[in-house]
Amino acid sequence: MQRSVLYTLRPLLQVPFKTASCSTVRRIHTTRWTRSHENPLGIPKRDPNPAPTIPRRGAPPQKSRIKGVKQIVVVASGKGGVGKSTVAANLAISLLHNSPLKRSPTVGLLDLDIFGPSIPKLMGLENAGDPNLSDENKLVPLQNHGVKTMSIGYLLPPNPANDSPVVWRGMMVMKAVQQLLFDVDWTNNNEDLDVLVIDMPPGTGDVQLSLGQLVDVDGAVIVSTPQDVALIDARKGVGMFNKVSIPMIGLLLNMSHFTCTSCTTPHELFGSSANFEKAAGELGLEVLGKLPLVPSISDGGDSGRPITVQSNSEGEEVRGIMKDVSEKVWKWLGGRDTSSLGTRG
Ligand SMILES: Nc1ncnc2c1ncn2[C@@H]1O[C@H](COP(=O)(O)OP(=O)(O)OP(=O)(O)O)[C@@H](O)[C@H]1O
Ligand SMILES: [Mg+2]
Repeated sequence: MQRSVLYTLRPLLQVPFKTASCSTVRRIHTTRWTRSHENPLGIPKRDPNPAPTIPRRGAPPQKSRIKGVKQIVVVASGKGGVGKSTVAANLAISLLHNSPLKRSPTVGLLDLDIFGPSIPKLMGLENAGDPNLSDENKLVPLQNHGVKTMSIGYLLPPNPANDSPVVWRGMMVMKAVQQLLFDVDWTNNNEDLDVLVIDMPPGTGDVQLSLGQLVDVDGAVIVSTPQDVALIDARKGVGMFNKVSIPMIGLLLNMSHFTCTSCTTPHELFGSSANFEKAAGELGLEVLGKLPLVPSISDGGDSGRPITVQSNSEGEEVRGIMKDVSEKVWKWLGGRDTSSLGTRG
């Protein structure tokens, strides 16, 4: 039976709003800035009372694994618009089609971009309706192209113009992130999902930090375009994941070149890929692949049919590259021991 999942979001809208502590306010109002013999200019002196401190709650959060998920790969970059969501969707599909397992794997795709969710559109699930709730009150993923998906985009009230932005305070965003991480039922006939690909929002902010602190992630793929501005942010992304102990699988260069259809010459429109390779070398990271700029990647995203599910000749090179990337990711995952931590969810 389908129940409205908006009930799960309702608590988000009731976040208590805290006012400044009364004692702080009283102190500000009762301080008198008067001239005196000791203070001839009347310059305010520091209050002898100690400044209020932010209360600390116990130890930092413990990392755990997501219940019902065997392994987790994040696709990230410090920079916006470099193709993270496109790569995440195509990586999920390629992992599904190129697994070393002797059976068909199960693959999920989680959209952690709260302000700009793209996965419903990229996976052709924009009009799929509300997800169901399981008997345990967990969100049941929506599936297309063989991949289970979850996104805040499925949970927001439908908007006729499809253009209402999410305008939430940090606390509401974090609550939504936690629900997406821990309140989704990824299992399939009681079998755990083999791999969950997480599409990250741009930047190195709260969402990245929370993921790193709460979840034991198996590896990160950092996407970048060749420009210096993108590479600078990609380095920051790598630095942040290092800080929260998320292991790096490697870097993926997106929009590396465009091959002109009439002269068949590859043009490096956004700068030399040598720059990118140099940066990867300095970071000690493998270059997992170089994806060209191809109109059918973009068309495939807009039509909800990623290039990895198409069979057009224009996409052949890209499918080959993504196959290669997914094999490297499977190999990385195969070398991980995932038995050390508890689960949550
Ligand atoms: N290799 C490519 N060739 C052609 N178009 C591409 C390629 N990679 C991405 N695009 C297009 O670039 C645009 C941005 O891609 P995408 O939304 O995946 O970026 P993003 O990094 O996830 O952005 P955001 O930071 O906003 O989440 C999309 O229109 C996508 O179709
Ligand atoms: Mg995105």
